[in-house]
Amino acid sequence: MTDEPTSLEDLPGVGPATAEKLQEAGYTTIESVAVVSPRVLASDADVGEQTAAKIISAAKQAADIGGFETGDIVLERRKKVGKIKTSSETLDDLLGGGVETQSITELYGEFGSGKTQVAHQLAVNVQRQLEDGGLEGSALIIDTENTFRPERITQMAEDIEMDAGEVLSSIHVARAYNSNHQMLLVEKASELADDLRESGKPGRLLVADSLTAHFRAEYMGRGTLADRQQRLNKHMHDLMRFGDLNNTAIVVTNQVQSKPDAFFGDPTRPIGGHIVGHTATFRIYLRKSKGDKRIARLVDSPHLPDGEAVFSVTTPGIRD
Ligand code: GTP
Ligand code: MG
Repeated sequence: MTDEPTSLEDLPGVGPATAEKLQEAGYTTIESVAVVSPRVLASDADVGEQTAAKIISAAKQAADIGGFETGDIVLERRKKVGKIKTSSETLDDLLGGGVETQSITELYGEFGSGKTQVAHQLAVNVQRQLEDGGLEGSALIIDTENTFRPERITQMAEDIEMDAGEVLSSIHVARAYNSNHQMLLVEKASELADDLRESGKPGRLLVADSLTAHFRAEYMGRGTLADRQQRLNKHMHDLMRFGDLNNTAIVVTNQVQSKPDAFFGDPTRPIGGHIVGHTATFRIYLRKSKGDKRIARLVDSPHLPDGEAVFSVTTPGIRD
């Protein structure tokens, strides 16, 4: 046991009332308190500036802010990057071999474009043996729209002769009821990841499906866009950090909203705009095509050529 503060209430000067105010203002972790100025915290938590300074200084001591590391350590970590195959060779090729760990892959597109289906397939495939394109790991799913379907997992698993019951028992699903809850679930996921590491089937895939729906709905009428973007930004960075620390592939889905001022090209753009786009390592734009065909386009990838892949959403799952 350590006496290190682990929750906001463990910080000196933070009682239950202040903790609640902090939570409401979006401070969910000690790290988030550690990086603000006393003036901002004083106003957000309704405390004096001196108290705020004391709280921040304690948070700084307790927080895991990270720091500099040497290139060889970064290289060691990069060597551990794994790839999860999608069951479509063309889609894998587009992605440079599959969905990468220690990266965020954003799947965006209109309803029915296959985002959730690809996520289901990855939750199965991550569990496969290395030689079969898996990472012998578990999947974690933050489900914001209640679209996780165990029956669909069963179908996909049975088609590749995996034990559906076993596959399902290594997919950990949490419903997120609002954006705050969704952000908190990343912390829960970290706890789960610690347990899974011990279990021998480490969390190698974390899906947020949908990343943006709650944020969009909640800021429709109230709040400012800047506020929404700031929280979304924090959420993305929490996910990125989770991916780095646990060597996990992060897959987020995002709907598009129409952009009526676009006269040329596709008049849609992903929700969250550049905030999501700049943090995601791979952005895949999915479009519907004829029948079960879907077109995936890699957008703005720093180290892969832009291109398109055609794949299918079929009864056994994602295929070429
Ligand atoms: P939103 O979440 O609404 O934005 O859409 P999405 O991009 O997540 O779409 P999703 O992945 O749910 O794709 C839905 C499509 O997948 C359906 O229109 C079907 O074409 C296909 N699909 C879903 N389930 C099955 C299935 O069990 N069998 C087959 N053959 N196709 C399916
Ligand atoms: Mg969906």
